[in-house]
Amino acid sequence: MEHMSVIHKTTCRICKGPDLVKILALGDHPPVDNFLSEKDIAREKRYPLDVFFCRACNLVQLLDVVSPEELFHGDYAYFSSASEPLVRHFEQYASDLRQRFLSDGDLVVDIGSNDGVLLQFLKDYQVLGIEPSENVARAAREKGIETLVAFFNSSLADTIIASHGKAKVITANNVFAHIDDIDEIIRGVRILLADDGVYAFEAHYLLDLIQKKEFDTVYHEHLCYYSVKPLIELFRRFEMDIFDVERQETHGGSIRVYAGKKGAHSIEPSVQTLLQLEKDAGLHDEQTFAGFQKEVESIRAKLLEVVREARTEGKKVIGYGAPAKGNTLLNYCGFTADDIAYITDTTPHKIGLLTPGSHIPVVSPDILKTETPTLILLLAWNYKDYILEKEADVRKRGARFIIPIPRVEIV
Ligand code: TYD
Repeated sequence: MEHMSVIHKTTCRICKGPDLVKILALGDHPPVDNFLSEKDIAREKRYPLDVFFCRACNLVQLLDVVSPEELFHGDYAYFSSASEPLVRHFEQYASDLRQRFLSDGDLVVDIGSNDGVLLQFLKDYQVLGIEPSENVARAAREKGIETLVAFFNSSLADTIIASHGKAKVITANNVFAHIDDIDEIIRGVRILLADDGVYAFEAHYLLDLIQKKEFDTVYHEHLCYYSVKPLIELFRRFEMDIFDVERQETHGGSIRVYAGKKGAHSIEPSVQTLLQLEKDAGLHDEQTFAGFQKEVESIRAKLLEVVREARTEGKKVIGYGAPAKGNTLLNYCGFTADDIAYITDTTPHKIGLLTPGSHIPVVSPDILKTETPTLILLLAWNYKDYILEKEADVRKRGARFIIPIPRVEIV
């Protein structure tokens, strides 16, 4: 199906101002979760991946918006439960929500509920997932989690109130940064939320992205790269407060934000503390981003050197993990199956397909029980410790891992 599916915005997603400056250009990339088969290669499309900073409210964001239908269509490849440490993270998250906010009979609604990775731990309350990808929603339903196949908006909020009542807790994890019209999401959240309710969301955190050079977390699905300052401004416009923030280790460094209706919760000192940390790190200052492009280019140069040198010497290089961000990294470096012979991934849905853009075959990690490549490029670097331990055998047999982020290392 061919359709024009990108729009270019000229104003900031939060403050609507026009004063935006480009801070990073990564070139043209296909959508990172569109794993494909050989027959679909000719139809693959690429869109620009440029990051902008708003001089007024300081939100870091993409302005090229690829349509959600193209990004999250029918068969979506990302299943949260494919990463065991992430499942443990959501188990802890559920326990935090339970202890702080929930009582018997309360309704919890999860926007972008994926395969039910969070709600599966809250099934003793009323739970409702909202997930636009049919195949992912099916996996949640198989776990007994009621799941609507839909994009969340204010009219869906009205529908849910009619069928389920108001929600005590609404969550939106690794999805609130993925939505172009965030105003509409907050409007919907405000409608659906009980007066003393809590809107909790997690998103990768700009401070980690900049400090750890996590340029590969830039991809079309990630429209916003949040820091606390512009978020406070966003919620204030909707008469809501951010009352607590917490840094999390997931996805290379994330932020969990708790928001409620104005005055409903006392504001914790964490909000001011993180705001100050951002200020001290220069996140509200355009100058801070001036050298980022060069730093990213030097990571690419180093990776190219290591991989191409091995290849010249006839050594086998493979990739480990086929996360979305891996595709930004592979395409930015221009790697193909000539450089990286194959990539292992635990997601059954990705196995047997090719990575978008670089067209490298994805295979089951079982292959490493018998094969010993010389170098393994760790694309799922956010699970470094877990994976290095899990793959102790192949390392003992002589394979070495290339860790790309925050600096190229061979271990
Ligand atoms: P994830 O880090 O959640 O990232 P992104 O948001 O960039 O897509 O994705 C991790 C990917 O790595 C996922 O496809 C599952 C895979 N994976 C493995 O193959 N082996 C592992 O041990 C782990 C933890 C993940």
